[in-house]
Amino acid sequence: MDPVIQQWINTLTHGDTPIHLWPIHVSPTKKILSLEQDSRETLLVYSKDNAYDRYKTYSSCTRLVPRPYTILLNKETFLLEKIPGRLIGDQVYEKLHQDDQHGLTRLIAKTARYTALLHNDLKHCPHLPRPASWREVLEERCSLALEHANSETREKITRICDTLLQADAATTTPNYTGHGDLHLYQIIDNGKCLYFLDPGGEPDTKKKPGPEYDLAALIRSIEYVYETISQLHRPRIPLRHGIQTLLALYTEIQRYNLSSLAIGYIARLLYEYYYEKHYETGLEWIPEKHLYYVARDQHLWLGFY
Ligand SMILES: Nc1ncnc2c1ncn2[C@@H]1O[C@H](COP(=O)(O)OP(=O)(O)OP(=O)(O)O)[C@@H](O)[C@H]1O
Ligand SMILES: [Mg+2]
Repeated sequence: MDPVIQQWINTLTHGDTPIHLWPIHVSPTKKILSLEQDSRETLLVYSKDNAYDRYKTYSSCTRLVPRPYTILLNKETFLLEKIPGRLIGDQVYEKLHQDDQHGLTRLIAKTARYTALLHNDLKHCPHLPRPASWREVLEERCSLALEHANSETREKITRICDTLLQADAATTTPNYTGHGDLHLYQIIDNGKCLYFLDPGGEPDTKKKPGPEYDLAALIRSIEYVYETISQLHRPRIPLRHGIQTLLALYTEIQRYNLSSLAIGYIARLLYEYYYEKHYETGLEWIPEKHLYYVARDQHLWLGFY
């Protein structure tokens, strides 16, 4: 057994009641075990990625983020409130797979509304790190993407980045920091409301983007689900239906800036390319394909910058 996990168990078994532990998630940056004691469930999180501080800060701003409890050995090992429920990503996948347009609309509408509510809470929170300018966000993600690009992709990324970095919109700085790494598999639906997991930014980045980045990342996440399903069959529900629902329902509660959304979309795409390549997930073909679309239709995107 992993010595760190063994140490957790030793720390925890000082009491008399038996503890049941089982792994529920392992990723490049995090291990999560489910822990049951006295019929009470929590999560045991082991993360080298500052997750404790991020959860602490965000959950002090909003009830829509789970609360971290005790630090066990050091900040890398802590207990986290467990939210029972289903991931939005799994549900969206299911509805798309079943061509259930009504169900899909309902889910995306709920996601959009809760994202807007999350942003409302974050907007007024004094503890969050200051957001970076769009130029800083973009520069960081451009250089991460270039770390792994082959010569053909490198040329496209350089061209996209050069154009974008000159855009007026890149000089603006958002008013507040968003979630920073939002996707459909970071949102849990407990039947009543939605909870946002893993707040505070993407692994290996320092520049914190504004709320439009979250919205862009959700659009990208819908596109990911489409790409994955398309390997099996072509969904009948058009992609634009999901994106339109997301944006329409979000704007019932919050405004967004279209230029920032376009920059956020490309910055997120570049980050995804970096992430999939760097962590060798085998999914780099998804952002790569979409980077090619952006490079091909750059004149269309230019209108939004
Ligand atoms: N508080 C929670 N309550 C219930 N389930 C959780 C909770 N936190 C995490 N999980 C489960 O663990 C999974 C991974 O969590 P998290 O996103 O924090 O890890 P990660 O390493 O950042 O993964 P990824 O890179 O896929 O985002 C979630 O998708 C969810 O299924
Ligand atoms: Mg995560």
